Amino acid sequence: MKYLLTAIAIAAALSACSRSSELHESMETMGGSFKAMRNANQGSDIQTHLAEFKAALSIAKAQPVRAEDQAEFDEGMQKLETELAALESALAEGDAEAAAQHMKALGGLRKEYHDALGVK
Ligand code: HEM
Repeated sequence: MKYLLTAIAIAAALSACSRSSELHESMETMGGSFKAMRNANQGSDIQTHLAEFKAALSIAKAQPVRAEDQAEFDEGMQKLETELAALESALAEGDAEAAAQHMKALGGLRKEYHDALGVK
């Protein structure tokens, strides 16, 4: 019985780790695509990295975080999606100035929520 409990405890710890690493991995991908979007100066390049960012975001937002952080996390993910949609419209309209503003806002959300959730 003691061994069974130990095994269950280890399995639970491992599954918690793999959950958080999925969040970490998708965030790392978002970080890479975001940087590439910033450096891209051609519309089609931005679109490619934006698609990568979006795919990683949809994985990140599905990951559970600590119960006390969940509401704030969900709120930040929602805001990120709203900004991303606005960025896509600006790019579709060829409005470079608005696109730059939305890129800035995405960076602002990263800082705001990383600070709020204690991400180093
Ligand atoms: C442009 C937007 C964002 C980018 C590019 C981004 C990128 C990253 C990166 C690269 C990491 C790994 C740690 C680090 O190097 O800082 C990370 C971690 C994390 N981010 Fe974001 N992030 C963004 C927005 C957000 C938002 C809005 C939230 C919350 C709503 C969030 C929540 C987290 C959490 C909880 C971690 C820690 C995950 C872990 O490492 O286990 N991020 N992010």
